[in-house]
Formats: sequence, structure tokens, C-alpha cells
Amino acid sequence: MTLSWTCAATDGAARRGVLRTAHGAVETPVFMPVGTAGTVKAMTADAVRATGARMVLGNTYHLMLRPGAERVARLGGLHRMMDWQGPILTDSGGFQVMSLAALREMDEQGVTFRSHLDGSRHRLTPERSVEIQRLLGADVTMCLDECTPFPASEAVAAESMRRSMRWAARCREAFVPRPGHGLFGIVQGSTYPALRAESVAALAATGFEGYAVGGLAVGEGQPAMFAVLDCTLPLLPASAPRYLMGVGTPSDILGAVRRGIDMFDCVIPTRSGRTGRAYTSRGVLNLRNAKHAEDPRPLDPACPCPACTRHSRAYLHHLIKAAEMLGPMLLTWHNIQYYQDLTRGLREAISAGRLAAHCAAVEAGWAAGDA
Ligand code: GUN
Ligand code: ZN
Repeated sequence: MTLSWTCAATDGAARRGVLRTAHGAVETPVFMPVGTAGTVKAMTADAVRATGARMVLGNTYHLMLRPGAERVARLGGLHRMMDWQGPILTDSGGFQVMSLAALREMDEQGVTFRSHLDGSRHRLTPERSVEIQRLLGADVTMCLDECTPFPASEAVAAESMRRSMRWAARCREAFVPRPGHGLFGIVQGSTYPALRAESVAALAATGFEGYAVGGLAVGEGQPAMFAVLDCTLPLLPASAPRYLMGVGTPSDILGAVRRGIDMFDCVIPTRSGRTGRAYTSRGVLNLRNAKHAEDPRPLDPACPCPACTRHSRAYLHHLIKAAEMLGPMLLTWHNIQYYQDLTRGLREAISAGRLAAHCAAVEAGWAAGDA
């Protein structure tokens, strides 16, 4: 059997379920910390697991350039290399090529680019992207697509989406089914409902183990993103998992879960942890701010992470100001813990049929602040 998803409970459009993979089962809605280059930055694999995270993301683009997909395979695959025994989803590379690589040239067959590391020339096609993700050992393989830049005219967005749909069909052909593994298609179409509908129809006709919504969180803003979800999600097969790529803030996650998204990944908790920002049940704190310099209180009294149970805001402020490595480590741990606790709370609320009240209470906590 390929990877599967089963629904355990619903509350309005929101779903709670279980994703079963070759590396174990994961409860959804799930937030996947980003482990771009074979590590969730500043975290050991044990620390990631201790937050409750059960699935992480890896990147085709970074790993094909360094250390190389064939080398990862010789080292026993990404799970073995990074000592992560849970499921791994890998992004296909197209999005990162467009945001990181130099001299990108897209044609019908694929994309040619120069590495942002050393300028060397590389090529990604749908077939090679699927092969790289197999070499990495991905439980969930993503189709190679083009994340349509925002804003785009309807004509440009249509061209871009239709090419992604042709590439998705080629990825389906290239993907070798293995037990517990699956291939996800990616819906594109920018902010145009008719294009999103056409994209869903094309993907559903081919058939994938899961469906991602791509091309969002690229500058359109939360209301436009939610509008795309409102017109797209009701068209997707209800029996398959749905993944919102690269999203988002805690507020984005609440809104997307309420609309029927099951899976998320985002650099926000890890990246903002490294720059001194902490997401808490009382909103966002910037630990660089001098107001924390002598504050003996924990970051978030409701949080079980080491930053909150063993240290003061004053110490975290000091670590960040002094550019000590422990500062980013502790804040990354905290932020991932917060995202895991947030998604666990959403799962429990869906099961209890009280998601709306739960979200209202969470939002009230953010609004209250803690100063
Ligand atoms: N990450 C965030 N958005 C996207 C997208 O549209 N496509 C892919 N492949 N990855 C993404
Ligand atoms: Zn914490």
C-alpha cells in the first residue's frame, strides 16, 4: 500500500486524521519543521522529536547541490544521515531554484540554473526531481512545479499553471510506487478561481496520494490566501490529505485548518528563532528589545520547552544580544514547541467539536499580549 490518510473527525470544514507512511503514522493537522539541508537548523533530531514534531521537510534543491543526492543515498538516505526516524517530505526544487539560484532558464522540459553556492550548472526536470527525492528516501515526494510569482496576469498564471500540470503528469509517470510512500500534486493558478479549479481538475484526473496548494504566501496577503483556499479546497478529493506549502504564521494556520488544510511547513518558527523572535500564547516577543533585559519571567509560562522552564527572558535577551549560539537554539526549540502545541490543540478541538471556540480563545490570548 502506498501512503494513506484516514479521517478521524471533522468540525465544519476542518479535519483531524492520521497519515500513515513508511516511517510511521502522523496525526493531522500537522506542522512539519523545515530541515532544508539535512538538519532543522540549531536543533538535534532528538530535540525536534521532544517538541512533539513527528514529520520534517527536506529540500531537493539544497541537497542535490550539497552533499549531492547520490552521496546521500550512499550514506544510507536522508533519514539515516540526519538520524530522523520519522517521515520526511521533500520539496521538489522548483520553488527554491526560482528563489535562490542564479541564471535560471525554464523550458518545457525543465529548468537549468547555476548553484547559489559555487555557480556550477545544474538541471532539474520532473523525472530528475522525482529520482532525487527517491535517492533521498522521501516518504512524501512533491511534483516539480513552478510557483507562479505574485502578482501575475491571468494569462501568465494560466501558462505557468498548465506547465506545472504537464510536469505533474510526468512526475506521476516517473514515480515508482513503494509501500508507505506517496506523490503529492501541487495546485497552482495564482489568485484566479477558474485557474485553481482547472488545476484541481487536472491533478484529480491524474490521481495523487495527496494534494498541495502552492503559489501562496508570496505577497498576496492573508485575505487573498484564504479566498484561494475557500474556492480550492471544496474541489479537492475529501479522502486525500491537503498540504498548504510554506505557510505560515500561527494565525494563517488557524484559518487554513478551519478551511480544511491538514499539513503545513514553514521557516517562520526556525528562522525567526534565530533572529530573536518568539511566538507565544500571548503573541510575538522580540527578545532583542531592551525591555526584556532584566525581566525574570519565563518567555511563555504555558510552554514546556527548556527556554521557558529553565530560563528567564533576561537571559534569552542576553544570549541574543551577545550572539551566543544558545540563543537561537533555545528560541528555535521554543518556537517549534509552540507550533506543535498549537497544532495539537487544533486536533483536540476538532475531535471535541469545539474548534471555533478554541480558535477564538487562542486569538484572544494573542490579542491580550503580555506586557
Ligand atoms: N513552497 C512554497 N510554495 C511552494 C510552491 O508553490 N511550490 C513548491 N514546490 N514549493 C513551495
Ligand atoms: Zn517555550
